[in-house]
Amino acid sequence: MFKEFKFFPEQASTLAGEVDLLFYFLIAVSVFFSSLIFFLIYVFAVRYRRRSEDEKPQQIPGMLKLELAWSIIPLILTMIVFVWGATIYFDSYTPPKDAMEVYVVGKQWMWHIQHPTGQREINELHIPVNQPVKLTMATEDVIHSFYVPAFRVKKDVVPGRYTTMWFEATKTGEFHLFCAEYCGTKHSAMIGKVVVQEPAAYQDWLSGGTQNEPLEVIGEKKFQQFACQTCHADKPNSRGPSLVGIFGESIKLQNGQSVVVDEEYIRESVLEPNSKVAAGYKPVMPTFKGQVSEVSLLQITAYIKSLAKGGSN
Ligand code: CUA
Repeated sequence: MFKEFKFFPEQASTLAGEVDLLFYFLIAVSVFFSSLIFFLIYVFAVRYRRRSEDEKPQQIPGMLKLELAWSIIPLILTMIVFVWGATIYFDSYTPPKDAMEVYVVGKQWMWHIQHPTGQREINELHIPVNQPVKLTMATEDVIHSFYVPAFRVKKDVVPGRYTTMWFEATKTGEFHLFCAEYCGTKHSAMIGKVVVQEPAAYQDWLSGGTQNEPLEVIGEKKFQQFACQTCHADKPNSRGPSLVGIFGESIKLQNGQSVVVDEEYIRESVLEPNSKVAAGYKPVMPTFKGQVSEVSLLQITAYIKSLAKGGSN
């Protein structure tokens, strides 16, 4: 009966050990000071108890050393926790450059996942072991939260923007995936699993799917379906800027500012085309809000990204 009872989920990512160590440190500090305080309450209660009816306590004017000690020691401890925690935080929020990209869309009440190679899955995420994986996440409706306890990662998926998270699994196996943000009637059913495989097994899985068109190819079709290329043609005097080689670059805007072309900017430019117009172009693009789903947006983004690799339009 107690075999199944665990205080902590399994540690299955590079981050898990670090997060747990910090957590253990916080528990240890709390236990130490709680015990010390309880112990001193008893010691003082006995040592300084009132010994006779007419005893009058003496006024104590204060003790500089003691006051310095109880100010400086907590300061040091909280600074340790701050620096340590911030280090893990920044680490967990900065995906490594070589991370494999996977696209996640949450909707009531499931997780829709797309791999760059075109595989799609529902409520399951297959990934290779010992490989950093970056998730770019969007939602079709309300806030959800992508939570894998064994990896010690959780990130809200918020309407109107992309959020990203990354992890590197260190063990093969199956791990729980939860939605950790109340999102309606079947929130509790919005669960799944992360399947971590050996690289070879993962390759097998990739080639075993039926829908094997790479994401950027699907994206190119959507790009044409929405007739994006009529304005965003890669030739002079087009109505819209060329998108070739644009991803990851910094571009000038009409208002004199500049912006780096990333997933977020592409998404915004499709849905709110007039909010950040590229310099030298007129704000003539219509919005595609309500016409293009988050899933399609991610595919179109993958296509635009692929143009940056030196593809042609
Ligand atoms: Cu989605 Cu809770």
